[in-house]
Amino acid sequence: MKQIGIGILGLGTVGTGLCKLIAENQELIEKRLGLSLDLKLALVRDLKRKRILPQGRLTTDPKRILQDPEIQIIVEVMGGMQPAKDLIIQALKAGKTVVTANKELIARSGHELLTLATETGQDLYFEASVAGGIPIIRTLKESLTANKISGLYGIINGTTNYILSKMSQQGSTLEAALAKAQEQGYAEADPASDIEGWDAAYKLAILASIAFGSRVEMERVHVEGIGKIQPVDLKYCQDLGYTLKLLAIGKNSPAGIEVRVHP
Ligand SMILES: NC(=O)c1ccc[n+]([C@@H]2O[C@H](COP(=O)([O-])OP(=O)(O)OC[C@H]3O[C@@H](n4cnc5c(N)ncnc54)[C@H](OP(=O)(O)O)[C@@H]3O)[C@@H](O)[C@H]2O)c1
Repeated sequence: MKQIGIGILGLGTVGTGLCKLIAENQELIEKRLGLSLDLKLALVRDLKRKRILPQGRLTTDPKRILQDPEIQIIVEVMGGMQPAKDLIIQALKAGKTVVTANKELIARSGHELLTLATETGQDLYFEASVAGGIPIIRTLKESLTANKISGLYGIINGTTNYILSKMSQQGSTLEAALAKAQEQGYAEADPASDIEGWDAAYKLAILASIAFGSRVEMERVHVEGIGKIQPVDLKYCQDLGYTLKLLAIGKNSPAGIEVRVHP
């Protein structure tokens, strides 16, 4: 059976999940694709940490992945703008297919990277960057091609949704609800991007760009997180028969495109 070599940039929460899925569903994947996926090498910072892959499959040198002729697909799950962006550029130029879960990078530099992918004749996939479990990007791009989309509304950040639910149901403070979310593995050690609304804003910029066929720049997204919400706000909402959620809202009208994230 033909083997497809995969190189992973980053082996944290998402990278480890990917390795688990490929191992657990190996037979199913082979049956469906008629191909076998071979996780050849993963890029990490710290070689001493215990990982899901054996030592021999770990490296701190990205060149070993980018220059390996047996690696056809590069999966970028390291996060942040740099060095992720440069590594994706190098991968596309080296003739690799790239898959990324990096919403910040796609929201800020997606246009540049997709242009490069077209120029180099490679594919750049980013379904995992926004609500990968649904999934929504391919649906917007392909299944809804014949539809004119005038609005996008949704709760697209799980961490803040969990926190607001706890605050609403149990009267917890934001700090206590956040600590609980971290304990349960719903929130990251550094939750700033979620709490301040940036995670939802990156996702909205990507979705609005696709849905409205326009380039929505991050600087144009109004972003307000949940950092200032107090239990009393939830109480007032409840008294009035409402609740509070962090919403991502995109509107496309003759007046222009409006994109905002706020409670
Ligand atoms: N977590 C989620 O639920 C989720 C969901 C959808 C999308 N995403 C996106 O997926 C990406 C990864 O998220 P994550 O939660 O998996 O992050 P993470 O747990 O922090 O993992 C990041 C990994 O990248 C490696 N890394 C980071 N910078 C590096 C560098 N300069 N050189 C070498 N290795 C480096 C880290 O190495 P060390 O382990 O050695 O530190 C780590 O293994 C992000 O773009 C995030 O927005 C995450």
